Amino acid sequence: MRVTISQIKEMKRKGERIPMLTCYEYTMARIFDGLGVPMLLVGDSLGMVVLGYETTVPVTLDEMLHHTAAVARGAKRALIVGDMPFMTYHTSPADALRNAARMLQEGGAQAVKLEGGIVVAETVRRLTDAGIPVMGHIGLTPQSVNQLGGYRVQGRSVPAARRLIEDARALEQAGVFCMVLETVPAALAKAITGLVHVPTIGIGAGPDCDGQVQVTYDLLGLFDDFVPKHAKRYARLAEEIRTAVSAYVGEVRDGAFPTGEHGFTMDAAALEAALEHVGTQPNGEARETVEAR
Ligand code: KIV
Repeated sequence: MRVTISQIKEMKRKGERIPMLTCYEYTMARIFDGLGVPMLLVGDSLGMVVLGYETTVPVTLDEMLHHTAAVARGAKRALIVGDMPFMTYHTSPADALRNAARMLQEGGAQAVKLEGGIVVAETVRRLTDAGIPVMGHIGLTPQSVNQLGGYRVQGRSVPAARRLIEDARALEQAGVFCMVLETVPAALAKAITGLVHVPTIGIGAGPDCDGQVQVTYDLLGLFDDFVPKHAKRYARLAEEIRTAVSAYVGEVRDGAFPTGEHGFTMDAAALEAALEHVGTQPNGEARETVEAR
């Protein structure tokens, strides 16, 4: 049975912490699902860690749908949240509704995520009224990186902290089932978590949010150019991959791979019969050379 929106909300009421991870493809989705991770976010961060864009701004709805559908094929139990990319929910609530519906119908997600607070509240209301569960996202909103002038901590000043609190309340009133707090001082995130009744999911927002989300590639050490301050590396997969791939390349070069155990046999008489019709190979090799192998 797939995790439901009510179960996620219930986790806050019971004081159960909610672990969430980004996921971009089928194989990892199967692994995370098998481990019982309750919520997977097909984040538009895939634009940076999977597609090689500099920011999340260029990510398209089609790209998101492609990856969300792969995750949905792999994860049968986790609640899947599909990130709505830049400009797919800003132009009008009607456009947002059409695009969010595609995320559920074509992507197989059970919910969508939108960045922004008060400014997207009306859109959130339209989507939830139409039966599309919405996760909010306030604090550092990477799709606005050009407006924000970089990836900076949000809500440190009195007016900025008040704005974030108002954003959180507006999202709750508009009907979000939970909200991401990104790169927000821990004390402010704790206060917001106490003020709203829906779960807060932190990333760089301290230990007192109701749940945490991490970009999987940071956590697994797959993207190892740098470690963001909010991330903890639980594995060093990029190093493991380098070691494994160098070993493979070396063994192919020196002939150590493959050996007989990696190949397939055939009946010697069948091969003999097949070769009877072959005088010279197309590449000019004599038949004896083929037989000698
Ligand atoms: O796209 C993403 O991965 C996100 C998380 C960082 C919350 O939005």
